[in-house]
Amino acid sequence: MSESIYPPRRIKSFARCAGRMTPAQKLAVESVLPQYLWVKDTVVDKPLILDIGFGMGHSLAWQAAQYPHTHFLGAEVFLPGAARLATLLEEKQLSNVHIAYGDVVLLLKEQLPLHSLAGVQIFFPDPWPKKRHHKRRLLQTDFLDVLLAHMKPGAFLHFASDWADYCLAVQALLASCPKLSFKRPSSGVEILERPKTRYENRGVVQGHVIEDIVVWLGE
Ligand SMILES: C[S@@+](CC[C@H](N)C(=O)[O-])C[C@H]1O[C@@H](n2cnc3c(N)ncnc32)[C@H](O)[C@@H]1O
Repeated sequence: MSESIYPPRRIKSFARCAGRMTPAQKLAVESVLPQYLWVKDTVVDKPLILDIGFGMGHSLAWQAAQYPHTHFLGAEVFLPGAARLATLLEEKQLSNVHIAYGDVVLLLKEQLPLHSLAGVQIFFPDPWPKKRHHKRRLLQTDFLDVLLAHMKPGAFLHFASDWADYCLAVQALLASCPKLSFKRPSSGVEILERPKTRYENRGVVQGHVIEDIVVWLGE
């Protein structure tokens, strides 16, 4: 695959990476997080689901416990969030999750083989509500091309958001891609149940409507 699928000077979809950490979070970064970090050429023997922007990791840890026959790769740029997920995994003794700390675009480009994903989840991505910031939204044409190149035939892409205009744009983007279908093909991977996430609850309190959009990559 040519390097050109990866946008050369991509506008970042996130504003913060670090942030102030408590002593407990610092300890988790040093002593717990390393054992869960994804490294290039990691081999997993279960279907691999990429969860982009897991926040503090509560919904991902919940799914990992519910689906022991699935392997999860969580990508997050927010270090306290990555440390929190690692702590949850250790507490619950879950071994079917790896964490990629950093920008998911770099993870895909440098550490994940093409056609390796059985599914991709993007739950409540940063909405960047101001019009002049829409270019920072994660799911757009260039990033979709990257994702599709890393998905297996039959893999799903599950997007959820409480921002109506983001959902409309994503719906239109996905509908314009001939490789994708809104109906699961016979051998398509089933999507996973998800619990209510922290940002979802915030959206509900604000009176937003939650929308889940799911497509599958054709065989
Ligand atoms: C609004 S939060 C949603 C968190 C969680 N999914 C939930 O629903 O509670 C979006 C998360 O995506 C992360 N994020 C944004 N761009 C990212 C990127 N390019 N790579 C990895 N994580 C990213 C942010 O750091 C943030 O924690």
